Amino acid sequence: MQRTRSGPTVRQFLDYYLLLLLSEKSRSKRQMVDEIRERSAGNRSYRPSGVLWPARIEIDTVLARLADEGLVKPPARGERWRITPAGEQALAAYEDSEDKSDGKERAAEKLVELLGPASADIHVLDVGTGQGFLALKLAEQGFSVTGIDSGCFDYSKDSIEKAREQARDHGGEVVFRQADIRTLDEPAESFDYIVSSQAVHCMAEQWACVQAVHRLLKRGGRFLCMDYLVGVRGFQRHGFHCFLALTREEWVEMLLEQRFGNIRMHEMHDFLVIEAQKV
Ligand SMILES: C[S@@+](CC[C@H](N)C(=O)[O-])C[C@H]1O[C@@H](n2cnc3c(N)ncnc32)[C@H](O)[C@@H]1O
Repeated sequence: MQRTRSGPTVRQFLDYYLLLLLSEKSRSKRQMVDEIRERSAGNRSYRPSGVLWPARIEIDTVLARLADEGLVKPPARGERWRITPAGEQALAAYEDSEDKSDGKERAAEKLVELLGPASADIHVLDVGTGQGFLALKLAEQGFSVTGIDSGCFDYSKDSIEKAREQARDHGGEVVFRQADIRTLDEPAESFDYIVSSQAVHCMAEQWACVQAVHRLLKRGGRFLCMDYLVGVRGFQRHGFHCFLALTREEWVEMLLEQRFGNIRMHEMHDFLVIEAQKV
């Protein structure tokens, strides 16, 4: 049974994506639903629930709104939905607004700014560190950093060795370990901050991972996470992979459930930076 992704972020994306599909060719509602499910099916190899599986009723709601705005034309008997000239213009406006700057670097700068002054007494855990993108930056700043990665994908199985190689050319206090956040054998409340870059989207059992983050954080410590922005800008840069990430609404739900407080979010083009505190 697939999980239906819904909510304002998904509906806003569907506004754009249905126009995109109809600009390719006229389609029936059923064809649109099937296309979205099929085109996002590759996400299943990361997480079973990663496929975008909109309900037909959700598509109905979006099409009705687009038709009210004159952007699409409902089918006459035996025909299919079509885009109108006004719809083509609306689609072009989405494409023109694409920002070419590097959202990942901007998000990392924001995350570093949010951490505040560095010191070797402050212990930071970088979860899903890969080749040390964040861990190395934070060690250079002066934090004491541990980077962990489970190496659970073909592309990531050698990441920790590569991160160690890179650490030789960088300054600072950093250690890298191959480990899964869900089973990391560190005592509770070991870290002042826990950070993560572009990793939660591909974690199996995201809730269990965030529960482990909560256990490992000191009281008052903060979790700072950057990941794909779900929606049009995330899609324009990362395609359907952006739907492996959590929407703003899903982040709030998960963090509150795990008893995090002081939740804030910052959009940095195609990335979302999430801040939460163990209260
Ligand atoms: C897309 S990479 C991001 C690497 C790096 N943080 C960056 O920003 O370039 C995501 C990484 O998360 C790791 N990962 C996935 N699930 C994990 C888990 N449960 N615990 C630790 N690492 C995990 C994967 O092995 C992969 O290397």
